[in-house]
This record gives sequence, structure tokens and C-alpha cells, in this order.
Amino acid sequence: MNILILGAGGREHAFALKLSESKKIKQLFVAPGNAGTDEIAINVNINPTDFGAVKETVLKNDIKMVVVGPEAPLVNGIHDFFLADNDLKAIPVIGPKKDGALLEGSKDFSKQFMQKHGIPTARYQSFTKENLKDGFTFLETLTPPYVLKADGLAGGKGVLILNDLSEAKSELEEMVSNQKFGAASATVVIEEFLKGIELSVFVLTDGNSYKILPSAKDYKRIGEGDLGLNTGGMGAISPVPFADQAFLDKVEALVVKPTIAGLQKDGIDYRGFIFIGLMNDAGNPSVVEYNVRMGDPETEAVLPRIESDLYELFEGVGKQTLHEKSFSVTPKTATTVMLVAGGYPESYQKGKVITGFENCEDSIVFHAGTKIENDKVVSNGGRVMAVTSLGDSIEEALAKTYASIEKIKFEEMNYRKDIGFDLI
Ligand code: AMP
Ligand code: GLY
Repeated sequence: MNILILGAGGREHAFALKLSESKKIKQLFVAPGNAGTDEIAINVNINPTDFGAVKETVLKNDIKMVVVGPEAPLVNGIHDFFLADNDLKAIPVIGPKKDGALLEGSKDFSKQFMQKHGIPTARYQSFTKENLKDGFTFLETLTPPYVLKADGLAGGKGVLILNDLSEAKSELEEMVSNQKFGAASATVVIEEFLKGIELSVFVLTDGNSYKILPSAKDYKRIGEGDLGLNTGGMGAISPVPFADQAFLDKVEALVVKPTIAGLQKDGIDYRGFIFIGLMNDAGNPSVVEYNVRMGDPETEAVLPRIESDLYELFEGVGKQTLHEKSFSVTPKTATTVMLVAGGYPESYQKGKVITGFENCEDSIVFHAGTKIENDKVVSNGGRVMAVTSLGDSIEEALAKTYASIEKIKFEEMNYRKDIGFDLI
């Protein structure tokens, strides 16, 4: 069985590595992949949103399953594209169709979905330039900080959290009238600020049954102490100590079950991952957002803890037999630290030669933005590598990760030295 993974980051390297352990897999393909996936799979240099090129790759290489890493192909309808094509419709796509992908592709849709199905989330209203004045009035009813969210995909930048009412009003106007985030902010969700500590829970579903994957905490800011600009994620820890079984039971009862049931009631046949961003406020969960894919770097902490065969689970998703599949997770802690290019998340350089990553026996080094140039592995993105270790405690896993990082070198390499320390 040949499988194609779409994407190029640490998440996709983690998928490839985990799938490569399955005996049922003959050949893995990753499009476009990176220098890490090149070692265990065949990289195909196409853009995952070029569906014609994906089709050609699938047919040429006898691919029998497609695993979608990032959200863009899902929101653009890659799963629908497969179902509508006679040559492709029998090939399972791991990832929802366009209707399900709206949970991430439209904040307004996802808020309506949660409200309709009684899933705990912040109170909200949506506005466009036609009812901007009502938006100002709604902001006046809220207490700061004010949370403004571009409805559409904005590359993780579309959420503003502001302390000042007049600033919130002018930003709202910038978003809806002056397209601050392009078409994505033609509609803006304004919602109540949620208190608490953030974490993510991941679900894999075949539309009927589901498996709750390990929880994780992401570190989003570039600077230590969670300061500075937002990034795609600088590190992750799994499991999350403050998400105890009682809390996770509440998440299952109040969020996961109503989400799966809500999708069914709304006629959305959802097959893939649901990434639930949660706030834990004194033991009570509230949904901050849904994503329709796995997180990056959360995947690099979550997948190494899964003991079950990932291919078997994906087969269950495709055939809707997920309930028959066994699922087990190691109680060990996984810690992931991202190595990034100097300057990231602002401007940075690529093409820096990376050394030492082959000598990290106590860790798994996932490639993110890397490629091969003149037989050398060089940086090819802002987030360059993710270093994951497993341990009996956070301390033990972190010690391994940071010891491995000492061995890895590239010019202007940067990383956070405080990942996980808030949880010890
Ligand atoms: P989102 O893209 O919706 O996940 O928002 C990005 C980040 O903004 C989240 O990860 C939270 O840290 C923060 N955030 C979003 N919505 C809220 C809210 N209602 N209350 C507090 N923080 C929020
Ligand atoms: N690390 C956050 C995300 O993947 O959206």
C-alpha cells in the first residue's frame, strides 16, 4: 500500500515517521516534504493545493490513501475533489470535506456550530462593514480585553486581543472596511475574553466513532516567558499536567461528544482530525477554536506517544471501522522544542547548513523547514527542526531535548529555553 502525505513541516515528518513503522505500508510519498521526509519517503515537488498535480501524483504512484497535513487543501475542498473524480473516489482522504473544514475556515461558522449544539464557548457576535456601528455597540457591552477574530483563514494572524475600547473599535473598522486581513476579515467575530489556561485536545474520527488522542500544550510566542510576537508554535508538551482525568472527562462529555453528534445532525460526514483549542477555567472547558488538522508542533509531541499503528487507525477512518481499532498511548511525557531561524517570525534567512542532528540518539529530530542542497541539509523556513524526547517526567524529557539541541548547529539558530518549565 502506497500513501501520500500532503505538507512540508514537522507535522508531516512526524506522520511519515509514524506511518513508516506500519508493516502494511510499501512506499510513502510526501508532497512537497522536506529533508527529513526525504530519508524515509519519496518527496514529490508539487503544491498540495494544486489538485490536478495531486491527482497526477496519486495515479502515477498507485497511491491508495492521502493524508492531509495543513488546512488549506481541506478548506479548498481536496476531499470533495477526490469524491467527485471517478479515478480517485475510492481513495480515502484523511481530512474533512469542505463542509467540515469550515470549522476552521470560518470562525463565524464554528461559533454558530458551537452555539447550536450547546458546546461551551465564549459569547460572541459577528459583524461586517454593513453593521459596523452595531459592532461598536457590542464592544461597549463587553469588558476588556476585547477579542476580534477575522472570520477566514489569516495564517494564524487574524486574532487581535486589545485592552483599549477605542483601539478595538478602530481595529474592527480596519478589519471589516479596510480589509486588514484581506477578504478573511470582511466578517469579524467579536467575543468575550476567556480566562484560564490554554491547551489542545486532538480527536480522530470516522464520523461515527472517535479516538481522543493525547492532549498537548503549545508555546506560541517567540520569547521566553511567553513574550513577543506570535509564531506557528515554539514547542509543545504532552500530556498536559493541569488537564487531569476529571477535566478530560468533562471535555469528552461537553465538547467531543456534542461535536461529533453535531456534525452528524448537520449532515457533515467528517473523517479526519479535529484539533480542539480549549481554555481550562478552574476545571471547566471552553472551546477557543477548532482546527480541522493536527497542530504543528503539537503533532511532534502527540504522535510519539501513540503506541498503536497509525495506518490501522487511518484505515478505520477511511472504512468507518475506527471503533474496531485498538488504541493505546504511553504514559510517558513528550517534550518538543522548535529550532527556528534568527529573526523568525519576522524576516529571516534560509540556506544555513545544519549539522549535528544525526547524533541525537536520545531524541527524535523532526525536520520542519529543511531541504537538501549540494548534498547538505540546509534551512528552508522559519521553523527549522523540532526536537522531541520522551521521559518519565517533564524534567527528564526536557533534559534530553535540551542536551540534544546542544549538538545541533546552524547559523543564527534560535529556540526557547523555557519550554515546559511553567508545568514543572
Ligand atoms: P484562535 O486563532 O481562535 O485560536 O486565537 C488565537 C489565540 O488567541 C488563542 O490561541 C488564544 O490564546 C487567544 N484567544 C482566542 N480567543 C480567545 C478568547 N475568547 N479569550 C481569550 N483568549 C483568546
Ligand atoms: N501550533 C498551532 C497550530 O498548529 O495551529
